[in-house]
Amino acid sequence: MIIAIDGPAASGKGTLARKIAEHLGLHYLDTGSLYRAVARDVLARGYRLDDTWAVVAMARSLDSASLDDGGLREPGIGEAASRIAGIPQLRAALLKYQREFAARLPGAVIDGRDIGTVVCPNASVKIFVTATPEERARRRFLERQACGDAATFEETLQLIRDRDARDAGRESAPMRRADDADLLDTTEMDIEAAFDAAVGLIKRKISQ
Ligand code: DC
Repeated sequence: MIIAIDGPAASGKGTLARKIAEHLGLHYLDTGSLYRAVARDVLARGYRLDDTWAVVAMARSLDSASLDDGGLREPGIGEAASRIAGIPQLRAALLKYQREFAARLPGAVIDGRDIGTVVCPNASVKIFVTATPEERARRRFLERQACGDAATFEETLQLIRDRDARDAGRESAPMRRADDADLLDTTEMDIEAAFDAAVGLIKRKISQ
């Protein structure tokens, strides 16, 4: 069974996907970490983010053991990941790993931007998780504040809006709700409520 969870930055999709995977005993893949890890490697070697050759070379030599690196969650790496994510050759280079992961038994929960539309269009369950930009900025702001980050709420909101525009506006596999995906708006929900709602959607889909 493959469960595809897509949605914008700070929508809570990662926490939700991980919890669902634990609950159902499935593998979990955060595909954002692939794009983040490539961006990290490109920058660490002193290449430019618009150097397609370097970006693709880093993707082809990506070490999956390096995906747990805490540094990948840094805001600068997320921004860099979003910038390189529009390169079609990069997306093609990462597709095989994602599809092979999806094929692992007994199944997988995979989160990202294009899982329901491109990576796993035949997923048994597709959920597009979202929340208003203001609520996502509020969550991100509190998270960053706890880490001692000095960014203001307004700056955080602007970054969220810019990221949404870039991820949804690119030509190659833009962030989009698949036609057959259920929408889960978590604006008014905490993680427990979002989890209960998602489990409800999954049960309904599987019983259909
Ligand atoms: O989910 P995240 O914030 O860790 O993702 C970082 C960036 O990676 C995101 O802004 C766009 C890119 N990404 C993508 O293009 N496709 C995916 N399936 C996952 C992430």
